[in-house]
Amino acid sequence: MAKIFIVEDDLVIVSLMKQAINKSQDHEIIHFSSAEECIANLHQRPDIVSIDYNLPGMNGLDMMEKIKAYDSGILCIIVSGQEDLEVVVSSYKRGAQDYIIKNDNLFANIENSIRNLNMNVALRREVELLKDQIIDRNKYSNIIGNSNGILRSLRLIQKVEKSNMMVLVTGESGTGKELVAKALHYNSPRSRKPLVIVNMGAIPEELVESELFGHEKGAFTDARDRRIGKFEEANEGTIFLDEIGEMNLSHQAKVLRVLQEREVQRIGSNKTIKLDFRLIAATNRNLAEEVKAGRFRQDLFYRLQGFLIHLPPLRERGDDIILLAKNFLTDYCKQNKMEQVNISKEAVKYMLEYEWPGNVRELKAVIERAALLAENNTITIADLTLMPA
Ligand SMILES: Nc1ncnc2c1ncn2[C@@H]1O[C@H](COP(=O)(O)OP(=O)(O)OP(=O)(O)O)[C@@H](O)[C@H]1O
Ligand SMILES: [Mg+2]
Repeated sequence: MAKIFIVEDDLVIVSLMKQAINKSQDHEIIHFSSAEECIANLHQRPDIVSIDYNLPGMNGLDMMEKIKAYDSGILCIIVSGQEDLEVVVSSYKRGAQDYIIKNDNLFANIENSIRNLNMNVALRREVELLKDQIIDRNKYSNIIGNSNGILRSLRLIQKVEKSNMMVLVTGESGTGKELVAKALHYNSPRSRKPLVIVNMGAIPEELVESELFGHEKGAFTDARDRRIGKFEEANEGTIFLDEIGEMNLSHQAKVLRVLQEREVQRIGSNKTIKLDFRLIAATNRNLAEEVKAGRFRQDLFYRLQGFLIHLPPLRERGDDIILLAKNFLTDYCKQNKMEQVNISKEAVKYMLEYEWPGNVRELKAVIERAALLAENNTITIADLTLMPA
C-alpha cells in the first residue's frame, strides 16, 4: 500500500482519480486543493504525488521541483488538461515519472500509472530497509573496547560524527581504521547516502586520476567509455581515502585542489562539477615524518590533521585483547552453529603478553583458527598459532 497525495482543485477529477487508484489495490490517498497545502504536508512522507499542472497560484512543474527538493525519492505524476509536447518533455526532464492527460482515458491511465509506480515504491522501501540494516550494523556499537585509548577514540567519533569536518584516522595495520570510518559515516546525517571507499595503495599510479576524478569517453587511449570518478560517486555522501600516505605528490596536489574548491573536472572535460562530500582519510604511516622526508605535502597534511583520531596498537589496550577475543569467539561459534568455546587461563595470559603486530585483524584470525582446533570446547596455548616475537 502506497501513500498517495492528489493535488487537484477539480473535485470531479479527484473522485475519478480516487476510484482509479484504488481499483486494484487499496492505497492511502490524501487530497489537497492547493500546492501550498500539499507542500506544508510533505512531512507525512507521500510515496507518490499526483500534481495538477494548472494549479491556482503555482505551476505544477514548479511545485514538483519543491517536492523533489524536499525528497528526491518522491515519485511525481503530472496530470494536465492539455497535450502540449513542450510541457510533456519538460515534465520528464525535470524529473516526473509520468505525464497523464485529462481525457477519456484518464481512469485507465491513472490506474496503470499507479500500478507501475507501486513496484517502484515497493523496491524503494526494500532499499530503505536494507539501508537501515547497514546503518545499524555500522554504528559504533560494533567498536569493542574499554581501554582508555578506545574510549577516547569513541568520544572523538561522537564529537565529530554529525559535523562535516574532515577526519584523519591513523593507526597500525589492523587497528580498526576502516571500522572508525564506517562509524563516522553511518552516524552522520549522510548515512543514507553513499560511503565510497578508495584504497590508494591498491590503484596503479597511472589510473589514480581517472579513478578519483573520472574521465570522458576518448580522454585517453584506453578510455572507451565515460567513467564517473569516486569523488563524484560520493556526492552528498562520504569518501574514505584509505592508505592516503601511498599517494604520490602530484596526486596529492590534485586532491588538495578538490578539497579546497569542492569541485572536479573529469579528465578530457573542461566542465567543472560542484560536489558536496565529506572526506575521511586513513593511513598507517606517520604523516609528519613523511612530510619531513618530502614525501607528503605539508599543506595537505595540515588540512587532514584538522581532526585526528589515532587508534592505539592492540598491545597497548590491555584487557581489550580478551574482550575482543571473547566477542569474536562468540560470533564465530554462532555463525558456524558450534557449541560455545572458551579460552583457558594459560591461553589468556599468553595472549595478553603477545605483541599482536597485525593487531585486531590478527587477533580475529587467530581466534577463529583456534576455535576450530580447540578440543573439549577450550582454547589452549597449543591452539594459538602466534608469530614468534
Ligand atoms: N575495536 C574493534 N572492535 C571490533 N572489531 C574490530 C575492532 N577493531 C578492528 N576490528 C576488526 O578487525 C578487522 C580489521 O579492522 P579494519 O579493517 O578496520 O583495520 P584497518 O586499521 O583499516 O587495517 P589496515 O590498515 O590493514 O587496512 C576488521 O574485521 C574489524 O571489524
Ligand atoms: Mg583498512
